[in-house]
Amino acid sequence: MALNIGTQTVREEPSDLLLIHAAELATCSGAPRGDACRDSDGPRRGAAMGDIGIIRDGAIAVRSGVIVDVGATQEVLSREPLCEPLQGLPSCASSAPGVPHVIDASGCTVLPGFVDAHTHLVFAGERYREHVMRLGGAKYLDILAAGGGILSTLTSTRSASLSELVAGAMKRLDVMLLHGTTTVEAKSGYGLDIDTEIRQLEAAKLASEAHPVDVVSTFMGAHAVPPEFAGDPEGYLGFVLSEALPAVEEQGIAEFCDVFCEEGVFSVEQSRRVLRAGMEHGLRPKIHADEIFAMGGAQLAAELGAVSADHLAAASEEGIRSLARSGVVAVLLPATMFTLMSRAYADARAMIDAGVAVALATDFNPGTSPTMSMPFVITLACLKMKMTPPEAVCAATRNAACAIGLGGRAGVIEVGRDADFVVCDVPAVDALPFSVGVNPVRDVVKRGAHVVKSEGGGRLCHSRI
Ligand code: NIG
Ligand code: FE
Repeated sequence: MALNIGTQTVREEPSDLLLIHAAELATCSGAPRGDACRDSDGPRRGAAMGDIGIIRDGAIAVRSGVIVDVGATQEVLSREPLCEPLQGLPSCASSAPGVPHVIDASGCTVLPGFVDAHTHLVFAGERYREHVMRLGGAKYLDILAAGGGILSTLTSTRSASLSELVAGAMKRLDVMLLHGTTTVEAKSGYGLDIDTEIRQLEAAKLASEAHPVDVVSTFMGAHAVPPEFAGDPEGYLGFVLSEALPAVEEQGIAEFCDVFCEEGVFSVEQSRRVLRAGMEHGLRPKIHADEIFAMGGAQLAAELGAVSADHLAAASEEGIRSLARSGVVAVLLPATMFTLMSRAYADARAMIDAGVAVALATDFNPGTSPTMSMPFVITLACLKMKMTPPEAVCAATRNAACAIGLGGRAGVIEVGRDADFVVCDVPAVDALPFSVGVNPVRDVVKRGAHVVKSEGGGRLCHSRI
């Protein structure tokens, strides 16, 4: 199927490709200096989050979708046989036979493709009226308690067909790709019955197969209590544990299990039961923790060895200390606080200073975070949470990959890895957060395919299967 927005050419197979002359190329690769004992594919912590391996006048050589060389442009050109056919040709003469495709990144900054480690990608319906209610002072948890919020998306998602859910997800993946996201996590949790939860997860799988962006899936049956169990959270949890989790395991369509641990939703004790049961069904734990109230979700994540604890805007000092001692990645979601018009952003500085591995994500969802832009999240991380631009880049790439079990497989520019990277139209990493309200992403390469092109101002150039 051809794309309906901005399609220019179709490049289905990864070609041999050379990116040259990046003003700054941040690899986010390898063990940080002086920290060789850490897992070299693991997340960065503390001061090491600012060490993102910047190469000036950088180049990347790609063969069959895989990175075969990275370094300064002159060095890569001198040692890479791919470059031989280029000798004597102008740098953009890449359509000649046997000549690799060339991206000239002069004046631009090149980063690993963004990994959006927390989204609610698959749903139907709109919630803009709820945003307007909040402008008038309504509170998120009050809207949910009154049957709106997640429960309103539940009604529209239950009545959507599989193909409608896939079409919505594909359209959003296009927008994400245009903003430089090449890997995304997607949660269920807007069905809260077996058929709809499985349909959401199937839609994520089909979208992942048909779209260049990779999608990893999380079962979030414990997102809210559905109307048929109103006032009976224990009854609903019984259903999640005895019916929904076995069905998800049988289908083999989710890697993680998540729970909304929040006052008025699920308690720490209930969340522990859900996540333990998820582990018994082969799903690694993740948790919506301490978003609005300090419930002790961070400590629960550490206790269970969760792959990530997400939100953490209200996390206590003790919660932060538990995360620092654990292998849990803290996924911070500043766009949610922005949309909820809250001043209570997560204390990223305290977390980084305590040695917590911090990641960033959009939390894209119809209710609390309508953005699909990781560059916007990086802007908020710097302006609202005082992260430095290199820390924010590390958090949006390498550490975000670790938060979804893809450490060493995504979020780095490294020989032997898939060629997933973005070209941003800013002269340095330090300039990235300050392109506020505009999309700095000019080109995107996913597994060696040039899927967003600068010609025409950042156009999608992939075809769907
Ligand atoms: O991460 N907090 C719970 N879940 C989502 C919101 C989902 C919704 O409101 O639809 C979140 O913010
Ligand atoms: Fe969420």
